[in-house]
Amino acid sequence: MDGPLIRLEQVTHRYDPGRPDQVALDGVDLEVAAGEFVAVVGANGSGKSTLAKHLNALLLPTEGAVRVAGLDTRDPGAAWEVRRMVGMVFQNPDNQIVATVVEEDVAFGPENLGVEPSTIRARVKEALAMVRMSEFRARAPHLLSGGQKQRVAIAGILAMRPRCLVLDEATSMLDPSGRDEVLNTIRRLNKDEGLTVVHITHFMEEAGAADRVVVMDRGRVVLQGSPRTVFTQARRLERMGLEVPPITALAGILAAAGLPISAASLSVEEVVDALCPSS
Ligand SMILES: Nc1ncnc2c1ncn2[C@@H]1O[C@H](COP(=O)(O)OP(=O)(O)OP(=O)(O)O)[C@@H](O)[C@H]1O
Ligand SMILES: [Mg+2]
Repeated sequence: MDGPLIRLEQVTHRYDPGRPDQVALDGVDLEVAAGEFVAVVGANGSGKSTLAKHLNALLLPTEGAVRVAGLDTRDPGAAWEVRRMVGMVFQNPDNQIVATVVEEDVAFGPENLGVEPSTIRARVKEALAMVRMSEFRARAPHLLSGGQKQRVAIAGILAMRPRCLVLDEATSMLDPSGRDEVLNTIRRLNKDEGLTVVHITHFMEEAGAADRVVVMDRGRVVLQGSPRTVFTQARRLERMGLEVPPITALAGILAAAGLPISAASLSVEEVVDALCPSS
């Protein structure tokens, strides 16, 4: 396919047509390339979830257009295929469990798509392996940790053979190890399987793992670029209620104090290498 996998053109969304002054999305232009890992950040109420729901036709633009693999999400005949191609993982792991056994939970999506049973079994096995949850296939999902539940939710989407995975604050209810599990899983799926990932997060250090960071403010995309480019704009981010990752903030202080270090350092390793080049 030529062109981006997902393209938003001048997308405006109003939840209440009677309140034209209240716009949740305000003229958003955005493209996501196949195989890209995009992080979306922004303060509360900036429009991140509204944007996410436009990517798989859960919401339709009030004005403008969203195209997924060339399909217009407003086309009623396209909605089903768009939802199969773009899978969503939400914040609360408990709300996404639909079955009492892990492998049945993962099978739910392809069953709904009418996939043939023997194919479903193969897909479930493969999807659980991709999120490293094979050994839990016969367990009860509600007894798993938050990170494990989110990995099962991701497997359920993978079993539908999507093009893109959209995670809306899917790590925000997890403990640090659960967050690491989920982040490592999506990074691996992106690098090894070429899965396109749109990761909405309020943890800026997670955004540092992306190819591109998109910053939203009051329904608009106000800044985007590589994590390094975006994180050098600490003052601007602060004005929007966002903070650079702690390690980048520290690097900024050290650089300002005259140490030979990039103010846009993204990792502890990078800071250590800059300060102790021989180590
Ligand atoms: N169902 C709804 N009905 C009416 N207004 C809504 C609805 N959902 C969101 N909004 C409004 O749209 C705007 C964008 O909300 P949205 O949930 O997309 O932001 P967000 O960036 O995801 O915020 P958060 O960080 O809190 O998740 C906000 O002003 C919000 O109050
Ligand atoms: Mg939200």
